[in-house]
Amino acid sequence: MIKKIIALIAVLLAAWSYFMMFTSDMQVKKLDKIAKIISSTAMEDKKLNSLQNTQPVQTSAVETVVQGTSTKDKEIEDKLRALKEKAGNIAAFNVSPLYKKSCSSCHGNVGQGIIGPKLMGLSSETVLKDLQDFKNGNRKNYVMYGLLGNMSDEQLVELSKEIGTFQSKLDEATK
Ligand code: HEC
Repeated sequence: MIKKIIALIAVLLAAWSYFMMFTSDMQVKKLDKIAKIISSTAMEDKKLNSLQNTQPVQTSAVETVVQGTSTKDKEIEDKLRALKEKAGNIAAFNVSPLYKKSCSSCHGNVGQGIIGPKLMGLSSETVLKDLQDFKNGNRKNYVMYGLLGNMSDEQLVELSKEIGTFQSKLDEATK
C-alpha cells in the first residue's frame, strides 16, 4: 500500500515538473513572438531608418541582456549584472512613476532593454531627439509613435532628463 502511494506521488511529481517545463518553454516562445511582432511594427522605411541609426532593432527578448558591442556597452552590461547581484541595489535605483508606468515594461526597470532597446547610457539630448522624432513621425515606429501621441512635450523633456541620468545612477549604485 505504502509503496503504491509513493509510486503515485512520484508519478504526480514527474507530471507536474513536465508540465512546468512545458509552460515555461511556452512563455519563452511567447516573449520571442511578442518581440518579433513589435520589431515588425517599424513602419515601411525601417530599412532606411536602420541605416541612419546604428542601434540594431531588437529581435529576441532573450538576447538583450547579454548584448554589447563597444567597450562602453560592455561596461554597462557588467554594471547591470553587478546591480542585479547586489541585493537592495535595484530598489535603490528609483525611477519616476511615469517611466515606470509607460516605459519600463519594454525598456526595463533600469533602462536595460527588454523588448525595446537599451536606454541605459544614452544622453538626455539623444533621448529627447529620439522621442521627438518618434512623436512627429520622423522616425517611424508604430509602438513608440502610438505611445507618445498623448504625451505632452514637457513629459518628453522630463523623461529624457531622467533617462539621461540612468548611467550616473548605475555608476553610483555599483560603486
Ligand atoms: C510596447 C513597448 C515599448 C514601450 C512601452 C516603450 N517603448 Fe521605446 N521603443 C520600443 C521599441 C520596439 C523601440 C525600437 C524602435 C525602432 O528602433 O524603430 C523603442 C525605441 C525607443 C527609443 C530609441 C532608442 C534607440 O537607441 O534607438 C527611445 C529613446 C525610447 N524608445 C524611449 C521610450 C520611452 C521614454 C518610453 C516611455 C514613455 C518608451 N520608450 C516606451 C518599444 C517600447
